[in-house]
Amino acid sequence: MHSALNVKMIKLIVANWKMNKTVEESCLLANELKNLLKNEKNVDIAVCPAFTSLHPVSKELKGSNIKLGAQNMHFENSGAYTGEVSPSMIKDLGCEFVIIGHSERRESFNEDDSLINKKLAAALRNGLKPILCIGENWEQRLNEETEDILEYQLLKCLSGIESIKDLVIAYEPIWAISKGNPNQKAATKADAEESHLFIRKVISGIYEEETAKNVRIIYGGSLKPENAKELLSMPNINGGLVGNASLNAKSFAEIVKAAK
Ligand code: PGA
Repeated sequence: MHSALNVKMIKLIVANWKMNKTVEESCLLANELKNLLKNEKNVDIAVCPAFTSLHPVSKELKGSNIKLGAQNMHFENSGAYTGEVSPSMIKDLGCEFVIIGHSERRESFNEDDSLINKKLAAALRNGLKPILCIGENWEQRLNEETEDILEYQLLKCLSGIESIKDLVIAYEPIWAISKGNPNQKAATKADAEESHLFIRKVISGIYEEETAKNVRIIYGGSLKPENAKELLSMPNINGGLVGNASLNAKSFAEIVKAAK
């Protein structure tokens, strides 16, 4: 049953620039990436700048093979929500993707699975491709709760969502996220593959096996040029969500090149 779920699909590599770079710096990085990656085929590439840089980066990337994503959004399209940005607003700027439920938002901004569920539904309703982040912390891993946590998060976050054709799932073990430390270790390819396979199994339980076969499950957590090839060549790892290493054009480009 498990091995039957393995599929080959075009990989997706997403840059999560987090709260970094001014407009000028963002455009410079986007421009470098456009040049370095212009001949890359058979891989999907996206960058997620800060909200302030979405519009200029969107213009910079126009006509290129690099797509745009946002790092967060509200679940309503308009209204009295001071400081928030809506799905229709990011769509309007040319975003195809939006990261939802990143562990840094769960930790620092108290986002819980029911809020993430609302955001996911809103993203899908607005024709965006949400990248749902799930993953266990170190203590949960030590207590051998990884699978319980992943299953719980998936069930809660996907509750009531009928079609996940446009959904991307990012497995991001919290303990592997660099937080800007380039020496942080990623998950081993075996541990990551095990979790990805488990996620696919949970999806096949909620939806149909065909849906589970086709859902993209990408890995995030200290993905870098040194480990990209081995992680991205695992059968159930369909791409990567890259934080720290995506702030440098050359290292992000190397990761993209390792994805094929
Ligand atoms: P990292 O971040 O690559 O710096 O570990 C990944 C993420 O948080 O999405």
